[in-house]
Amino acid sequence: MNKNIIVAIDGYSSCGKSTLAKALAKKLHFIYVDSGAMYRAVTLYFLRNQTDLSNHDLIIDALEHIDLNFHSRDYQSHILLNGEEVSEEIRQMPVSENVSKIAAIKEVRQAMVKQQQKMAKSKNMVMDGRDIGTTVFPDAQVKLFMTADPKIRAERRYKELLSKGEKVALEEIFENLAHRDYLDTTREESPLVRADDAIILDNTDLSEEEQLNFALDKIKPFLN
Ligand code: DC
Repeated sequence: MNKNIIVAIDGYSSCGKSTLAKALAKKLHFIYVDSGAMYRAVTLYFLRNQTDLSNHDLIIDALEHIDLNFHSRDYQSHILLNGEEVSEEIRQMPVSENVSKIAAIKEVRQAMVKQQQKMAKSKNMVMDGRDIGTTVFPDAQVKLFMTADPKIRAERRYKELLSKGEKVALEEIFENLAHRDYLDTTREESPLVRADDAIILDNTDLSEEEQLNFALDKIKPFLN
């Protein structure tokens, strides 16, 4: 029987899922997996290879050449694409602008979900994404669905990119988020929806500490 605890965090783009997931993993000594980083790394692979992103056969065939690995340091999730750390590069705009297209391809999703399910074997884990509570771990003990005011989300992402030296207009970020939400919620293959048993966490007016306490409260009953 699978006794390990899974905390599934889903929600819209730039809602602070990964900030909360990391804080939870640190507090509880759980493993943290950023599933979005996997879709981003796959997208980066195709951008680097100048693959025609509308050619799904090409993309599906190339999947076997993509090896993804995580290594965990300080409860941060570092992703390796064919052995190379790409954690920074996958956050840049070219990847953000194309990732939803790649994430909509059924075979890509199947490959990612298989790897994600394998990672959780016998480990306590916090995983964030779009389909974690619905498809990857439908039996997760705790499911959170995060949302926040779109303007606040764009401002948060803007500050994050700025702090990393990337200059992007706020308006461009706002539009990118809205477009990604649209693609993520309307795609055919496991679209972003709230699982029936997921708890909604709207963090528009909540501090990081308040969100952490909210989530810890929900997880506590499962800790022994
Ligand atoms: O969380 P993020 O912004 O890094 O995710 C990048 C993209 O990957 C996002 O547009 C949706 C997609 N994604 C997904 O379809 N399923 C997941 N489990 C995680 C991310």
